[in-house]
Amino acid sequence: MLTRWICLGAWLVTSVATADDAATKVFEQRIQPIFQSDKPSSCVQCHLAGVDLKNYIKSSSDDTFRSLRDQGLVSLDKPEQSKILKLINMNDTDNAGANLLHAKTREAEAAAFAEWLKACCRDPRLRNAPKLAAAELAKPARPNEVIRYDRTDRLLELFEQNIWGQRHRCMVCHAEGSEQNRKLVEKNGEQVSWMKKSAAETMTYLIRSKHLIDIENPEKSLLLLKPLKEVDHGGGKKFLKGDLGYKDFRAWIEDYAKVVCDEHTMASDLPKSDPRQLKQFSSEIWFKLANPPQPWDEKLLQVTLYRWDDRVKKWEDTPIAISDRQTSFKFKAWQHTLTLLAAPASDRAKEWQRGEPRLPNGKFLVKAHVDRSGRTLTDWQATMRDEDFVGQAEFEANWRRGYGGMMVVEAGKLTAQPSRP
Ligand code: HEC
Ligand code: HEC
Repeated sequence: MLTRWICLGAWLVTSVATADDAATKVFEQRIQPIFQSDKPSSCVQCHLAGVDLKNYIKSSSDDTFRSLRDQGLVSLDKPEQSKILKLINMNDTDNAGANLLHAKTREAEAAAFAEWLKACCRDPRLRNAPKLAAAELAKPARPNEVIRYDRTDRLLELFEQNIWGQRHRCMVCHAEGSEQNRKLVEKNGEQVSWMKKSAAETMTYLIRSKHLIDIENPEKSLLLLKPLKEVDHGGGKKFLKGDLGYKDFRAWIEDYAKVVCDEHTMASDLPKSDPRQLKQFSSEIWFKLANPPQPWDEKLLQVTLYRWDDRVKKWEDTPIAISDRQTSFKFKAWQHTLTLLAAPASDRAKEWQRGEPRLPNGKFLVKAHVDRSGRTLTDWQATMRDEDFVGQAEFEANWRRGYGGMMVVEAGKLTAQPSRP
């Protein structure tokens, strides 16, 4: 509280000294009240950390104007086109709900800044006031790269890829409104329905209901501990530490925690994004390797599927589906739903985005990897290597949706000569 009063004190002193000019009046009457209130600025609609409108404000009207002007955020001859107004007026065309939520704050900020800038730009004394020293400029502490990264829509993109792309592992029980979900809610309570209709609603729910994500110790998040069965879970063990589901959930939680704790300080702290990374699509297509050999029992097995491209008579370069799970010798099977893969912006990705992702029928190749040493269980970021390869097999597929339409390949058909697709 103390720093707050000191700040206010400084403002009062300046305002007494220069209360005569029009710009200062607007600044005191319309801009200062916004920044003295506890309400967050409209920037939080999209920026989780790294920037706030308050970062640009100095204690006097004059200094604030000079600071914005020197950073190129003011258009002296067309103040209504100033970059600072553009930042305030940023709208998310895809997210009308969020726009509405912040509309009032944004309109108040925009109107106040527009009027104040107009008054400043009319005043030759201010227009020509000397430049501020670089150290005097009021601006966010974080560089633009970090500000751009720490955004809700960027976080949602990763959520769609990681958690939404793996949702089939949880949705039977957790998707709000499904038959199974309704029964579980009756028994356990509403919190079972944490998976909502869309990725955006689910992400918002997980973030708001603080108990599911532990931003200080991401690996201790309930969202991970429950499916690992490290704490009691009504759904049993759904993750192995190091399987694709765990990896994807954990990576998103780690990223979110770093963002909200404002831990990215420099551009070099940001994770490198790989433009070749395939987009993931959750599916209800089941795949089974029947009768796996005893040594694979309870080991993590990963299948990667490639499609035969009949036009060019070769296997496609990148896999079209992937999945992993523990093998069971007792139940004579490894089986799971497939996560479908497509290059970003490819026709296939666009088609799967529009409707339910499906696989075309025809000739496929399955490659299997088994983590026999348990490496992925101790290092969650470890991936399958050549030494984990246990064989591959071709098969004709007639894909059908759902558990009843499971596509089955005998594990005994896997042969160990690795022919690269
Ligand atoms: C509706 C969403 C949205 C709102 C609200 C929003 N921004 Fe942004 N902001 C973005 C996007 C998207 C980018 C990235 C633009 C790019 O990469 O070209 C961005 C980037 C920035 C940058 C980095 C520099 C740049 O131009 O790319 C700054 C600084 C910034 N915003 C400041 C603000 C401030 C200050 C506010 C509040 C007054 C604000 N933003 C409100 C979406 C928003
Ligand atoms: C076969 C049904 C089933 C599946 C599949 C399932 N769960 Fe659950 N889960 C439950 C039930 C029942 C509860 C409520 C009892 C409890 O808290 O353990 C629950 C509770 C939870 C909770 C606690 C929610 C809260 O707010 O208290 C989390 C987190 C959770 N599950 C995560 C997952 C994740 C992640 C997956 C997928 C990887 C998953 N579950 C798959 C049945 C399931």
